[in-house]
Amino acid sequence: MADAMLNQASLSHAESYVPEDEVITAARERAAELGCVPIGPAGGATLRVLAAATRATNVVEVGTGAGVSGLYLMGGMAEGGQFISIDIEGENQRAAREAFAEAGIPSTRYRLINGSAPDVLPRMRDETYDLVFVDADKTAYGVYFEQALRMLRPGGVMAFDNALWHDRVADPSQRDPDTTTLRELGRTVRDDPRLIAALLPVGDGLLVAAKR
Ligand SMILES: C[S@@+](CC[C@H](N)C(=O)[O-])C[C@H]1O[C@@H](n2cnc3c(N)ncnc32)[C@H](O)[C@@H]1O
Repeated sequence: MADAMLNQASLSHAESYVPEDEVITAARERAAELGCVPIGPAGGATLRVLAAATRATNVVEVGTGAGVSGLYLMGGMAEGGQFISIDIEGENQRAAREAFAEAGIPSTRYRLINGSAPDVLPRMRDETYDLVFVDADKTAYGVYFEQALRMLRPGGVMAFDNALWHDRVADPSQRDPDTTTLRELGRTVRDDPRLIAALLPVGDGLLVAAKR
């Protein structure tokens, strides 16, 4: 191995490196009440960088939750862009709307689709989106990957949260369906010649890939 591995203090430092404002803190509290786990601070900050670096105007999210990741994504998007987020739970999306309103984001900047993502995504356009972020039911990640690849423009980026799945993906003895799907997704994304991939050890693991 070329470099020393990071210790827990360094990982914690990186996780809290970009502080969160009171709107994100309140969204995290609502997420906890609803029992949906939001992306961590470093993962969120990474999404914001990716949205800014791609000058994203068209972003799709699978798994709105209480809006923590949406706040980060819209925080990095270009002026005039549109953020689309899909969730099967209307209650979670109500909480997300509250968070976006608190952040002063006009409702014209985003569209929340209430439905199951495997049904909704196939209706979305080919090669149109700058960024697709996936943070929902893990066993469907293979479906979300195929759809994201189809929907992204060249140079667009896909990102999957929970790619290390509570340290289970790296442990070959763990063979439950969620872990197996995430492990296979990691291989698929890495080995696809149409993509340039990296697995970032932020939060619970963020798998990112740019479409060539
Ligand atoms: C981990 S939470 C998302 C957290 C959010 N991305 C954030 O960081 O704030 C996962 C969300 O996926 C939604 N979900 C689960 N299965 C889904 C499906 N088949 N289609 C759409 N959303 C789904 C859940 O209702 C839940 O709100």
